[in-house]
Amino acid sequence: MSRVLDFRDVVVRRNGRHIVDEFTWSVDDDQRWVVIGPNGAGKTSVLRIAATLDYPTSGSVNVLDESLGRTDVFELRPRIGFASTAMARRIPADETVRDVVMTAAYAVMGRWNEAYESLDERRAQRVLAEWKLDALADRLFGTLSDGEQKRVQIARAVMTDPEILLLDEPTASLDLGAREELLQLLSGYALEPGTPAMVMVTHHVEEIPVGFTHVLLLSDGKVVAQGPIEDNLTEETLTETFGMPIRLTKDDGRYAARAV
Ligand SMILES: Nc1ncnc2c1ncn2[C@@H]1O[C@H](COP(=O)(O)OP(=O)(O)O)[C@@H](O)[C@H]1O
Ligand SMILES: [Mg+2]
Repeated sequence: MSRVLDFRDVVVRRNGRHIVDEFTWSVDDDQRWVVIGPNGAGKTSVLRIAATLDYPTSGSVNVLDESLGRTDVFELRPRIGFASTAMARRIPADETVRDVVMTAAYAVMGRWNEAYESLDERRAQRVLAEWKLDALADRLFGTLSDGEQKRVQIARAVMTDPEILLLDEPTASLDLGAREELLQLLSGYALEPGTPAMVMVTHHVEEIPVGFTHVLLLSDGKVVAQGPIEDNLTEETLTETFGMPIRLTKDDGRYAARAV
């Protein structure tokens, strides 16, 4: 077991407002976390710091045993897989699926004239198959459905064999079929030996993939509960997180929530 993320007393202040407040949280490499909270709770802010894309206003953050602010983030970033809608918008619509995934090996968007090693090509092929994209490898990214684009973003994020995989709302905007298909793939990945630590942001308990182990509930920049899902995802903690009485049920490893 080793620690991949360690946040201590982290405060994020933007425009004089506390977005994240006295936030302490750690993630080990054998854990798969789901982060749940209403819009504006600070989920993306936390994830962007974990991805070394932002710095906290105060407090300390360790990512893969490197202290943020005292380390070269450009060396750290290839060890971190990160997928979000904001990043997806930067993927050129006219790039092939294969190239979107393969260019991750060079941490660049858009294929110019890098000399691709056959090792990378073989790895890309394997990653494409793993995320059910092999039949789409030659399609242009812009022509894919939302669900397919989400799978491409995740495939790109895992292409470099990262030590942490961070996913910001990977299931947002998907239809039921596409959502379930993605949740199944995420479950399979979460349960595989050798998978890195995972942190996935979602708004819905229905979207917690089987195999995820821990939950972080955030509300208004503060932790409502954190730890193993079975102890921390409760009607009480959800009620506090969303500010309304919530009923929670579990069936076949999947959760469902609704207002009472
Ligand atoms: N750069 C910024 N400047 C000012 N406010 C920001 C900035 N980034 C985020 N916020 C605000 O911080 C709050 C938390 O944002 P975010 O982390 O994106 O929440 P979530 O992902 O949980 O919806 C929101 O109210 C958002 O408007
Ligand atoms: Mg967000």
